[in-house]
Amino acid sequence: MSGIKVESPNVKYTDAHIEAKYSYANTKVRRENGSYVVEPTKTQYTFRTERNVPKLGVMLVGWGGNNGSTFTAAILANKHGLKWRTKEGEKKANYYGSITQASTVCIGNDDDGEEVYVPLKQLLPMVDPNDIVVDGWDISKCNLADSMSRAKVLDYNLQEQLRPYLQKLTPRPSIYISDFIAANQVGRANNVLTGSKLQMIEQIRKDIRDFKQSSGVDKVIVLWTANTERFSDVILGLNDTWENLNRSIRAEESEISPSTLFAVASILEGVTYINGSPQNTFVPGVIELAEKKKVFIAGDDFKSGQTKIKSVLVDFLVSAGIKPVSIVSYNHLGNNDGKNLSAPKTFRSKEISKSNVVDDMVASNHLLYDKNEKPDHCVVIKYVPYVGDSKRAMDEYTSEIMMGGTNTIVLHNTCEDSLLATPLIIDLVVLAEVCERIKFKVEGESDFQRFNAVLSILSFLTKAPLVPRGTPVVNALFRQRACIENVLRACIGLAPVNHMMLEHKHE
Ligand code: NAI
Repeated sequence: MSGIKVESPNVKYTDAHIEAKYSYANTKVRRENGSYVVEPTKTQYTFRTERNVPKLGVMLVGWGGNNGSTFTAAILANKHGLKWRTKEGEKKANYYGSITQASTVCIGNDDDGEEVYVPLKQLLPMVDPNDIVVDGWDISKCNLADSMSRAKVLDYNLQEQLRPYLQKLTPRPSIYISDFIAANQVGRANNVLTGSKLQMIEQIRKDIRDFKQSSGVDKVIVLWTANTERFSDVILGLNDTWENLNRSIRAEESEISPSTLFAVASILEGVTYINGSPQNTFVPGVIELAEKKKVFIAGDDFKSGQTKIKSVLVDFLVSAGIKPVSIVSYNHLGNNDGKNLSAPKTFRSKEISKSNVVDDMVASNHLLYDKNEKPDHCVVIKYVPYVGDSKRAMDEYTSEIMMGGTNTIVLHNTCEDSLLATPLIIDLVVLAEVCERIKFKVEGESDFQRFNAVLSILSFLTKAPLVPRGTPVVNALFRQRACIENVLRACIGLAPVNHMMLEHKHE
């Protein structure tokens, strides 16, 4: 059995759409004489989701990197149902680590009172990752089979089976401006575009159109999984508005990064652009352009290992009334990402991205923390070539507990970095694509609208979630997951998960 169908007067299925009337319950709070007056509110929404699932093309910037090659290999391995032998026995392709493909949601109870779980991907019609067509750019001209071998992520026997498919794939030349990534990457840069910034944007736009036409996909999403760049300076008159950014691109200003040029090219093509790295690609001028063109952008920086745990553990501690006072995170890794991050300026981008992740949880509990008080938080990353893609993360969380006590938790995590990041790329593109098919209307309004151009629904998948201006950033992992699940449920007229289980609490 695949898919679910909701039987409700509020939900209508047509050939083209699923339309659901949904009552959004919230609360409004007023402070009055030192206490709070809380007023429950209800807003009627109509969600309309296109049922037709398009053929999706994904273009990766940094296609030949560890993530890019692993993503492409994983899709092919799953599509062809590959199996391979290891010293532990036979393994078969899967999508573990992807919330859309490998996690479930409870949709209710059956007649026996048993909870019924379905794959999250069945809540709405979604792209099957096996059907994604992959293309992209890299400053290294290595074909994808050699990129896979260079990455040293997948087992040899699997690599041998994938080689015939992957060696036919070669990245398109990319935009390389050496100042933005570590100097130690120069040896890889043998596949680069030349010309002015405007000409390079035009070429990227042409590549997107060419891929769409030659592959026959209906829709393209562009995702940056290239090296971490240094932060760009945000300067009044340079990149603070779209008008200024556009002028600066034409004036060959040196502070405009390759990733910003890619984002501009994608948005001008009407193509969703996702940033899997920490740098500030989305300078205000890019955000303004995305809003103007109503094109989705999302980022920043895949939330794969250490930060994912942090956004669970600190949420647990603070919501349990325990006060984290010191968080120290060491990493060492030996892949090309680690090599690039060994330069101070690119490391700084990662450090910034990793450091704000506990802010919302700390700010949520004024019983533990005074205004502006934060735990000490230190992030260290070292490059150790021998460990390759098998990243080590060591964390120490020290908290104050009752009556002056101290609680110290120490974690050690070892795992292939790209095998954590690849499923996130799948979720980012699958969920961004479904969001492109969802429209909603608030009661009293005449027109349907799309989600805001800044797609904060994808926060679960990113370390430093980009959110629409003036809206709260949520880092806590389970709140982020609940947002995805509950928005998808709303689209089929189901109430948000409330965990009350009142039906089991009667006398
Ligand atoms: P990688 O170094 O193996 O791959 C990056 C690729 O980008 C390389 O093939 C490089 O040649 C290419 N590249 C560099 N500049 C480029 C440009 N301007 N245009 C096109 N290609 C360019 O790195 P990996 O491990 O695949 O990671 C990719 C990015 O994802 C990094 O920024 C990393 O910090 C970020 N990331 C990775 C995570 C993970 O692997 N678990 C988690 C969070 C973020």
